[in-house]
Amino acid sequence: MIFSINLTINGDLRRIELDDPRVTLLDLLRERLDLSGTKKGCDRGQCGACTVLVDGRRINSCLALAVSLDGASVETIESVGREGALHPVQEAFIAHDGFQCGFCTPGQIMSAIGLIREGQAGDDPERIRELMSGNICRCGAYAGITEAVLDAQKAMAGDGRAAA
Ligand code: FES
Ligand code: FES
Repeated sequence: MIFSINLTINGDLRRIELDDPRVTLLDLLRERLDLSGTKKGCDRGQCGACTVLVDGRRINSCLALAVSLDGASVETIESVGREGALHPVQEAFIAHDGFQCGFCTPGQIMSAIGLIREGQAGDDPERIRELMSGNICRCGAYAGITEAVLDAQKAMAGDGRAAA
């Protein structure tokens, strides 16, 4: 049986045929759509490496069945910034050394963008750590990540992008 779904992926409406209803959003992105920026860490909802935004909300794409997302809008790291015009969150991660090996970074950045859009972190580093706690960094770059989120939040509030 073939399951047809429509997904808006990084602004492009895509009609997708699935021959297996068990395909996760993560595998769809990485293996079928060549969007390999989203990483597979644990594949069981424990590390946050696979974080993407679905209808603006942060989710672990390894836990979401693609077939259940018909009509949704998905944003992945590939939609964030580009060479020569980085997103404020990307710039802040570089400025604050918010990564080492970089494997968790796409998920951290998508989570940070989601968190800033949610607008509930304020300027409390402890709260940011808590709201980013689903994103594990094996390299332990947490101090830089927290500073980067604080900084990016200020930059985005300044240029009116916090809600964008
Ligand atoms: Fe999805 Fe780890 S790969 S939470
Ligand atoms: Fe290596 Fe986070 S930068 S896992």
